[in-house]
Amino acid sequence: MKRREFMNFVGLGMLATSLPVAIAACNPTEPASDTPAVGDSVPASEAPDGFETVGTVADLDTKGFLTKKGLAVGNVIVVRDPANTDSVIALNSKCTHQGCTVDWEADKFSCACHGSEFATDGRVTIGPAVRPLESYETLIEGESVLVKVS
Ligand code: FES
Repeated sequence: MKRREFMNFVGLGMLATSLPVAIAACNPTEPASDTPAVGDSVPASEAPDGFETVGTVADLDTKGFLTKKGLAVGNVIVVRDPANTDSVIALNSKCTHQGCTVDWEADKFSCACHGSEFATDGRVTIGPAVRPLESYETLIEGESVLVKVS
């Protein structure tokens, strides 16, 4: 075997043995670690400035509402806007009458303590409460529902 033939033979052999390794390296079997899986919520450190994650879209659609206590603005309740289900509404869940927690009832917020009712924009529709529930900007990022708290 001449030198040139030997080198071609060795080169072809190396190519044949390294090809499966190269193909395997280019075909990842696991998603990259920084790719959120479906259902993951946005970690607080990755939420846009001033926003905080209150839950997932899946939970919102399953339960019909999301609540979160202890945000910078207090406690919030989040629902889909019945007039536009692509839109999400976030209101402070503390009744402006005497501070009970309001509940979501398909198209309005109500307070079981003394019967006040609030529209989806927070307006009082039935007293004794006279002040509206405060509303907050919302954002859906991937599977996460976020509320602007500052
Ligand atoms: Fe809500 Fe009185 S505390 S109606």
